[in-house]
Amino acid sequence: MWLRSDNAAGVSDEILAALVACNTSVAAPYGDDELSRQIDARLSALFEKPVVSYMVPSGTAANALALASIAGPFDMIVCHQDAHAFGSECGATDMFSGGARFKPVPGAHGRIDAAVAADMLAGMAGPRDNTYRLGALTVTQLTEAGTLYRPADLAVLGALARKHGLRVHMDGARFANALTALHVHPADITWRTGVDVLSFGATKNGAMYADAVVFFDPALAENFKRRQKRSGHDLSKTRFMAAQLLRYLEDDLWLRNARHANAVARELGELLARVPGAEILHPVEGNIVFVGHRVLTAPKERSPCQIERDIDLTTPIDVSRRTGVHLGLPGDRLKITDPAPGSPLVWVNAQSGQPWFPAIDPDWRLLWKVQ
Ligand SMILES: Cc1ncc(COP(=O)(O)O)c(C=O)c1O
Repeated sequence: MWLRSDNAAGVSDEILAALVACNTSVAAPYGDDELSRQIDARLSALFEKPVVSYMVPSGTAANALALASIAGPFDMIVCHQDAHAFGSECGATDMFSGGARFKPVPGAHGRIDAAVAADMLAGMAGPRDNTYRLGALTVTQLTEAGTLYRPADLAVLGALARKHGLRVHMDGARFANALTALHVHPADITWRTGVDVLSFGATKNGAMYADAVVFFDPALAENFKRRQKRSGHDLSKTRFMAAQLLRYLEDDLWLRNARHANAVARELGELLARVPGAEILHPVEGNIVFVGHRVLTAPKERSPCQIERDIDLTTPIDVSRRTGVHLGLPGDRLKITDPAPGSPLVWVNAQSGQPWFPAIDPDWRLLWKVQ
């Protein structure tokens, strides 16, 4: 088992079966097949609004091409300072938009601070023809810190965006985790609160490679197909992405996966919170647990809380470094036991015996032994 990221997780059996099932015949390429043609209707039903959508194989492609559709070469994109599209996608949006520029805003626990954004936008308002225009705002749901935007939070940001003429994008790489945690309708955290275009992630929650860009305002999608082609994301065998997405949405598979991942993350967060020296850095509201690790050795005395639990990691959760857990392969079980008093705290891979994340942080002493 490799406790690391929902990106490291496997693929749901049901989705693999759907891929095999659609491999029995030839079909029209580039989205003109029977399965791909069902996607818009399926997503329109889900969001209770006619949508136009396009499938892409990665979250980065979804974000960059979606943002390029609402922000041009001279536009500013307001984002959280930790936004994946801003800091972790190698300038994909900057490039595919032809020069749009991110304007990062701070905010606790991964959420844009609306008051700070309002001040900033007020300071930038007014006609100026020699600098960037206000173009778009992007929010991430679940946030990069594993927290949620409630519908009311989104409504405030949506109203602010409207006031300043910004289009709104949502990076929903972990949309299902947010949705199930909030117990709301998908429309309540998207178009009803002002989201114009959504990166609808499935890959991190059980698909192999299948995300969708969902336009709630079809006019914004005018050149999307061209953007896909130009960037090399117009896949010929689109039906294999459609097969994944249709199966993902069927039978509540996506919601079951997300609920399970969230529950495991919550349990793990509670467990980690009891470990002396460990610090949960952000509220665990979805499938991500961020753990600080100030104490690097076990206490001299055995801690009063004996920690010995089995955690069933059957769907992705995210324990990143400083860090969160995403993940587990179906059926994996994580056993956490107290280390011997006074011994170094280590967290090792059960099969390889390797410490977790050695390459990323050589000083990292991981907590506990995974057996
Ligand atoms: C919030 C968020 N958005 C987008 C992405 C990009 O997804 P991909 O790696 O499929 O390009 C990630 C990847 O982990 C992510 O965490």
